[in-house]
Amino acid sequence: MRTLVFYSEFDSFEEWSALLSPYLPGITLCRAGEVKDPDAVEFALVWKPPHGFFGPYRNLKLLVNLGAGVDSLVGRDDLPEIPIIRLSDPNMGRMMAGYVLFAVLRYARDIPAFERAQREHRWHYLHPRLPSTVRVGVLGLGELGSYAAMELARQGFDVRGWSRSQKSLEGIVCRSGMASLDDFLSGSDILVVMLPLTPQTQGLLSAERLAKLPRGGAFINVSRGAIVDQAALTLALSNGNIGEATLDVFDREPLPPDDPLWAMDNVLITPHLASVAIPATAAQQVAENIQRLARGEPVLNQVFPARGY
Ligand code: GLV
Repeated sequence: MRTLVFYSEFDSFEEWSALLSPYLPGITLCRAGEVKDPDAVEFALVWKPPHGFFGPYRNLKLLVNLGAGVDSLVGRDDLPEIPIIRLSDPNMGRMMAGYVLFAVLRYARDIPAFERAQREHRWHYLHPRLPSTVRVGVLGLGELGSYAAMELARQGFDVRGWSRSQKSLEGIVCRSGMASLDDFLSGSDILVVMLPLTPQTQGLLSAERLAKLPRGGAFINVSRGAIVDQAALTLALSNGNIGEATLDVFDREPLPPDDPLWAMDNVLITPHLASVAIPATAAQQVAENIQRLARGEPVLNQVFPARGY
């Protein structure tokens, strides 16, 4: 019997299998570790499988990444040469945009200052700013980045976007290329990092680049920790060069308990969940890709390891 193997430490096999099975008659869904006949495994639905995971599955035809970011897959040296697809679910986009909106609005409305004042029982009036006076820079205009940028623009923020290749989004000034990056950073009162992690973006936000941000601005990272020099970010947050940060991702996850970021009053930490795979809506697209492959049609949302996303 053709088999789909599932591996994730974060996602529920029961939920995925209940939702996928009705679309995939004739295919057995199985947790890694419970596979009886590795040769029957044709499909893999995985999030960060251990090294060597694919070795026993010689007849694998399709690899589905259980998430939007594929950096943990494409860099590895044990990938089979078969199509790889990622999830591209509008509900993941909405979930991400919701997180980004929350974090941006929190800064734009000075909520951290009120949180601090409340702890001191202090009535602290700060006159609200108009959103059009707040420059929000969205770094990375892929599927998730452009969704978030459009939602921010709908709120009336002065949204600017930057990507490696030129994009065009209504109502948003889009810039591209390394030559414009420093200028883009210096015009971002609130910077939202939404780039994929690739060899080109690894360490992109170095100490020098972080220093281009307006003094006292806000920094939000929802993509990958390795895009930023975390030590330089921590220093900038402690000396006020960067005023506030909302961080969902880190260079090491879980963030070690003794990391100085935990204790910083101007940092909000969440444990890498700004957006997660949503089985209820993504299952159908995973099933559709499996059916496409079975019919000999091209798969959707294919990832290209050489490109990195
Ligand atoms: C989460 O980080 C994802 O890439 O889906």
